[in-house]
Amino acid sequence: MKAAVLVSGGGTNLQAILDAVAAGTIRDVEISAVVSNNPGAYALERARKAGVPALAVSPKSFETREQFHEALLEAVRSSGAELVVLAGFLCVIPPQMVEAYPNRIINIHPSLIPSFCGKGYYGLKVHEAALQRGVRVSGATVHFVDAGTDTGPIILQKAVEVQDGDTPKTLQRRIMEQAEWKILPEAIQMIAHGQVAVEDGKVRITRRDA
Ligand code: GAR
Repeated sequence: MKAAVLVSGGGTNLQAILDAVAAGTIRDVEISAVVSNNPGAYALERARKAGVPALAVSPKSFETREQFHEALLEAVRSSGAELVVLAGFLCVIPPQMVEAYPNRIINIHPSLIPSFCGKGYYGLKVHEAALQRGVRVSGATVHFVDAGTDTGPIILQKAVEVQDGDTPKTLQRRIMEQAEWKILPEAIQMIAHGQVAVEDGKVRITRRDA
């Protein structure tokens, strides 16, 4: 199965995917393209180093949002991708992409949805809000993307403990290491092997041996 990965920043989740493909913990998956809205994203460098086609599709290069959205969809489509992975992609996903890839787009979010998600909750802001609320446990979620923000069917979640003295950065790092970099590759491996079904708006895992 071909998968395109959409990124905006450092790309540590992309790296976890590339490493899992190289190690054979993700099998039968080819990363057909890494696409960034941000031409300066280090994630693009990671893709190039791994020999994966990397391209920037910047909203600044287009007159309208609509044209940007079309270009993004075209970049994914032309790579032959059957699955789209949002790995720290911090733009709103084009509605036409959600329509073109129903239950074929997945996103990693750095909290236990439905906590600290939706509009305005991305990157460090999620961890700031979690610490502000004083939660003892946070974590990460992989979910299918639908027309809403962080509202699609949940595939995998992993809890991570908050520690005394955590800052947004230390919590972010622990959640990445203990949750994100594990459940995102695992979800891709499961989807590629037909182990994830969506029924009545919910995920049913038919087998979990990834
Ligand atoms: C990750 O923590 C990811 O969960 C988060 O952005 C970070 C990207 O890091 N995504 C969101 O907040 C989406 N709402 P990375 O570029 O190193 O993978």
